[in-house]
Amino acid sequence: KSIPKAELHLHLEGSVTPAIFGALSRKYDTDYAVLNEEKIQAQLFNYRDFYDFLNTYRIVCEHLREPLDYLMVFDWLESYFAEQNIRYAEIIYTPSILWRAGKDGREVLVALLKQSNKLNDQGITIRWILDCVRQFGAQWAWRTAELAAEFSKQGVVAIGLGGDEKSLSMGEYQEVFAWVRDHQLHAHVHAGEISDAQQVWEALQVLGANRIGHGIQAAWDPNLTDYLCQHAIGLDVCLTSNARTGAWPTISDNPFDLLHRKGIPVTLNTDDPGLFQVSLNEEFQKAAV
Ligand code: ADE
Ligand code: ZN
Repeated sequence: KSIPKAELHLHLEGSVTPAIFGALSRKYDTDYAVLNEEKIQAQLFNYRDFYDFLNTYRIVCEHLREPLDYLMVFDWLESYFAEQNIRYAEIIYTPSILWRAGKDGREVLVALLKQSNKLNDQGITIRWILDCVRQFGAQWAWRTAELAAEFSKQGVVAIGLGGDEKSLSMGEYQEVFAWVRDHQLHAHVHAGEISDAQQVWEALQVLGANRIGHGIQAAWDPNLTDYLCQHAIGLDVCLTSNARTGAWPTISDNPFDLLHRKGIPVTLNTDDPGLFQVSLNEEFQKAAV
């Protein structure tokens, strides 16, 4: 706790805790309003596999409908940053989830930037990654890229590509990511989480990724680990997330240590602290064992 930290891979939508989910389900009187926090944790925030996790993620996102909902989550993150001694964070926000539901993803971003820029006074710097979801397609990615460019001077630093890496090909997003790089934004790509090292190669070669979300499967490909090392491409490793989604079921043999010893810039992250009920300090403790 005494170490000042950075967290580089943290989804805003994945920061919904059982308590926040309970409050939102009562606010919107959804089917889940009958569940107390223990039941939310045991029945909904408990995953058979990665796809079961994505299903819960979708349900959680259906409960985020207006700026106030997102600000409730951001409020929780503010206390999380203080408690975890986090001084720098890159938060991943996905406007296309709202757009696809006919809602306004831009006004939510405006509200979040206003709130996050206030943290500067407390010595906490927040930057934003606007995520495109792999299974959603290029149409939504273009809209996300344009929004990122509009707010690039106000705290948005990159666009990202999360979601199901076994769905659409990287090629679908090649033009959008080239456009984004021309607009001095960075490219953050989830790859090599549940699929193989080839996904990491494509993130680098097709999308020009500057940093990889997860990337643990790179451990199987020595040419790739050499490349990541030589080009100082960072991997955002998320030990608990990998265990909870089944991407790498046992923390003690997660390749974090191997990748670190090879000289790749690896970082520790929670991914979705609300949905996995994990903190960054706990991730550091787990890595230290
Ligand atoms: N969105 C939130 N968490 C994710 C993960 N672990 N993989 C892909 N997309 C995500
Ligand atoms: Zn992620």
